Amino acid sequence: SFEVKIASTGQVIAIPADQTVAEALERQGIEIPLSCEQGICGTCLTRVLDGVPDHRDLFLSEAEQAANDQFTPCCSRALSDQLVIDL
Ligand code: FES
Repeated sequence: SFEVKIASTGQVIAIPADQTVAEALERQGIEIPLSCEQGICGTCLTRVLDGVPDHRDLFLSEAEQAANDQFTPCCSRALSDQLVIDL
């Protein structure tokens, strides 16, 4: 498991194994725009300020994924213990 930190507020949200990042954030009242929820459209794309995403989308190129500065919270997760996102 891992957690997400909201950069603007410092709020830390644990992401359970059975929830997406977008779902876990929505339960805390933080809405991320969603459309396909399958990693295809890029609607949910969110900037990552720290940590390493576990990219599970088909939207970003390999190079964009390797830069680790954005991810798709509808489906992607984290390889590091924490992701700091630019919200
Ligand atoms: Fe389409 Fe996340 S909602 S990529």
